[in-house]
Amino acid sequence: MIAKREHIPIAKPGIDEEMIGAIEEVLNSGILTQGPKVREFEEEFAEYIGVEYAVATNSGTSALHTALSSLGIRKGDEVITSTFSFISTASCVLMQGAKPVFCDIDPKTYNINPDETERKISDRTKAVIVVHLYGHPCDMRRVVEICEDYDLALIEDACQAHGAEYEGKKVGSFGEGCFSFYPTKNMTTGEGGMITTNNDKVAKMARMIRDHGQRGRYLHTTLGYNYRMTDIAAAIGLAQLKRLDWFNEQRIKNATYYNRKLNNERIQKPFIAENVKHVFHQCTIRVKERDRFLIHLKNNDIGYGVYYPTPIHKQPIFNEYNELTLPEAEHACKEVVSIPVHPALSKEKLEYVVEVVNAYE
Ligand SMILES: Cc1ncc(COP(=O)(O)O)c(C=O)c1O
Repeated sequence: MIAKREHIPIAKPGIDEEMIGAIEEVLNSGILTQGPKVREFEEEFAEYIGVEYAVATNSGTSALHTALSSLGIRKGDEVITSTFSFISTASCVLMQGAKPVFCDIDPKTYNINPDETERKISDRTKAVIVVHLYGHPCDMRRVVEICEDYDLALIEDACQAHGAEYEGKKVGSFGEGCFSFYPTKNMTTGEGGMITTNNDKVAKMARMIRDHGQRGRYLHTTLGYNYRMTDIAAAIGLAQLKRLDWFNEQRIKNATYYNRKLNNERIQKPFIAENVKHVFHQCTIRVKERDRFLIHLKNNDIGYGVYYPTPIHKQPIFNEYNELTLPEAEHACKEVVSIPVHPALSKEKLEYVVEVVNAYE
């Protein structure tokens, strides 16, 4: 019999006094929308990722949409991407009137299968969107090679991978990176997003598109949107960015503890490739007969998440793809469960999660 504890949430944003003070400062300045804090946040984020430019937006979804639009992706184009992701990875392609082409995943990393990506290239393919799912980088060596060989734009959906590295290089610096600052992410601004790039033309276009397509004040030269980040959000982002490496260290420490202590044969633990820094946005395990396991977690007050229960090509909005079979992703959708790994977990809570998971029969 396991002794009951208070509920352990699946995510908890790390907010401190400095962040509250930063918001107050912006409120007192009177500049609430995109202003000097956004510029400062963009500069610091670009430096952190190791790119020339960063363009802030008001969500990860608007970052993805703006990146595709800035790269000139449009009707008639095909964009290859992973079916095992959040809907925005593919809906941003529809927003440009282009066609998503879905790929299966590597069942160990849950990221796009590069061989299949190459097989699905047609003369209409213009871009590949990879997703560094759960904070584990994709096989970037292969993906970059494919994009170079076939002259394709490379968009990295790094919405779950702030600070993750592939062979010592930060994700978001291989192609056009898109980040989300939603509250459950490795760092947050409430709602928010960022595009990272070394391409000055893309950066210039992205700055216009996020601000109604304006080249100068009230001079609209391209289709744009109101995708601007507020200075309030940027002030939170600046304070969060200072702590990002610490947040990631805690996540990695927690996941390492789980990998050492979980010994239930019914559970498959997360894989970490040798040449990456996995930042554990999620600590995702696999279990057969998942419903029974979820009840076990719920009965013991442990929060969990299923990311994602349905592959994108089986979503009703994509019903023209419903005949398509992508077996690894479909299989993973039935078995994945994410357990709490956020920085606010105490040693005692980690021990409790291990006790509960190991006791599952
Ligand atoms: C992989 C992935 N792509 C895109 C997004 C969209 O980001 P946002 O919720 O900030 O629009 C998210 C966040 O939920 C995500 O996890």
